[in-house]
Amino acid sequence: MKERRIGVLGAGSMGAAIMRGLLTARYVKPEALCASDVSSDRLSKLKDELQIVTTNSNQELVRFADVVVLAVKPQTVVSVLSEIGDAWQKDTLVLSILAGVSTATLEASLPTVVRVIRAMPNTAAVVLESATAVTRGTRAAADDIATALTLFGCIGKAVEVPESMMDAVTGLSGSGPAFVLLAIEAMADGAVRVGMPRAMALELAAQTFAGTARLLLQSGEHPAVLKDRVTSPAGTTIAGLMELEAAGVRHAFAKAVARAAERAGQLGRGPRPDERTGD
Ligand SMILES: NC(=O)c1ccc[n+]([C@@H]2O[C@H](COP(=O)([O-])OP(=O)(O)OC[C@H]3O[C@@H](n4cnc5c(N)ncnc54)[C@H](OP(=O)(O)O)[C@@H]3O)[C@@H](O)[C@H]2O)c1
Repeated sequence: MKERRIGVLGAGSMGAAIMRGLLTARYVKPEALCASDVSSDRLSKLKDELQIVTTNSNQELVRFADVVVLAVKPQTVVSVLSEIGDAWQKDTLVLSILAGVSTATLEASLPTVVRVIRAMPNTAAVVLESATAVTRGTRAAADDIATALTLFGCIGKAVEVPESMMDAVTGLSGSGPAFVLLAIEAMADGAVRVGMPRAMALELAAQTFAGTARLLLQSGEHPAVLKDRVTSPAGTTIAGLMELEAAGVRHAFAKAVARAAERAGQLGRGPRPDERTGD
């Protein structure tokens, strides 16, 4: 069987992270992986690091690849797709990671022979710990979802969701890293307040988040069960938890996710991708 060739269109921080993940997992050989970008300097560094194929031509990239990961900024997608024109091969699968750009919008800008899957990874892709949701366009088949789940599984955890849930995904796992970082910073501040050096406080706080998240994922238990297990009567943990509840932290986190999801919906209904100024 012919080896599948992957193209990554836009070799910025996400594109590069995905390529590193694919090579680390041996999902694809370097000679079957191609990146295109406007920056020759960026491409030449990636070629040196990963020994992949590179090109400045997006048309050349789509002729090379069976699966194209679309990883440019949402506001450039219209010009990128119009520049590619009809250079697409029949049966190409496009995996778009463009925040806020629907499968319908992409399908309307692509030839009907091209299938589309939309994915929402997060910034932890850089350390191969992304939480990614994927959703299928109308032309994509079950096989295509399987391909997307395996491919994004190379950069962390990947799940399939209906497209109607993509705003919730954006609020939770897309914006979530910023919420977690704020919590880590705040907990470290508390330790600094009682005398711990800042660098040590940040390291212990970050490891506490990473370790607790792994414990939760591996145990499969409800967070409240694990929390109750470390909360002894009249102890230190219940004293801290009472402070968090009094400050409404539980409500604040839930509201932050819901607000971010609502904002994602507004942006999705708002300016066209070529008019957007950010994520
Ligand atoms: N970063 C995240 O955490 C995250 C999470 C989820 C989804 N996403 C999505 O992932 C996509 C990429 O984000 P990113 O953070 O990786 O952005 P980025 O670092 O700016 O990467 C985009 C790359 O595409 C290049 N580019 C611009 N115009 C191009 C063209 N016409 N042809 C080929 N390449 C072109 C850019 O070059 P220049 O810099 O020289 O313009 C840059 O290297 C975005 O659509 C974003 O919504 C990102």
